[in-house]
Amino acid sequence: MLSGRHILLGVTGGIAAYKSAYLARRLGEAGADVRVIMTKAAERFVGRQTFAAITGHPVERDLFDGSSVSPHTDLADWAELIVVAPATTNLIGHLANGLADDLLTNTLLATRVPVVIAPAMHTEMWEHPATQRNIHRLREDGHEIVGPDTGELAGGDVGTGRMSEPEAILAVVEKLLEHE
Ligand SMILES: Cc1cc2nc3c(=O)[nH]c(=O)nc-3n(C[C@H](O)[C@H](O)[C@H](O)COP(=O)(O)O)c2cc1C
Repeated sequence: MLSGRHILLGVTGGIAAYKSAYLARRLGEAGADVRVIMTKAAERFVGRQTFAAITGHPVERDLFDGSSVSPHTDLADWAELIVVAPATTNLIGHLANGLADDLLTNTLLATRVPVVIAPAMHTEMWEHPATQRNIHRLREDGHEIVGPDTGELAGGDVGTGRMSEPEAILAVVEKLLEHE
C-alpha cells in the first residue's frame, strides 16, 4: 500500500513516544521508506537506536551539527508525507504559530506535503484554551489531526489525550497518500 513512499516520522517528548516505535515498524511493513526526526525531549523517552534499527536510517536530530548543510530543507524535499506522533502541546503551539527552533519544526515549516498530527497529552493540557486554539489553527492550515483518544493516560488517569493507536494513524497515512 505504501510501497516505496517516503514517510517522515516526527517524534516529540511525550510518554506515547514508545508507541511511535511500533508506528515506524507498521509503516515499514506497509512498504514505506521511513525516516525519523526526534526532538531532544523525545530522546528522554525512547532511544535513538530503537528507531534507527526499525527504519534502517540514523535518526535525524540536529539542525546545525549534522552531515547535511541544510537538513530541514533536505528532509522536507525527501518526504511525501510527514506524521508527528506523538505531538506535544509544545510542538502543536510552535507549528500553529509558525515558530521554528529545532530540526522538526523547521522541517514542518519548510514543506508543502500532507502533515498528520497525532496529539498526546494529559486531559488538562489537551483541553487548555491555548492548545484548542492552536489545534483549530492547524486544522485551518490544512493539517490532518488524528485523535487524541479517550482512555487510560500515563499515571493511571482516565480522560481525553491518549495518542491514537498506530493502526489508526497508519490508516490515515494510507488514505492521504492513496491519490497522491
Ligand atoms: C514524564 C513527562 C511526560 C510528559 N508527557 C507529555 C505529553 O504526553 N504530552 C505533552 O504535550 N508534553 C509532555 N511532557 C512535556 C514535554 O516533554 C515538554 O513540553 C517538552 O518541552 C516537549 O518538547 P518537544 O515538543 O520539543 O518534544 C512530558 C514531560 C514529562 C517530564
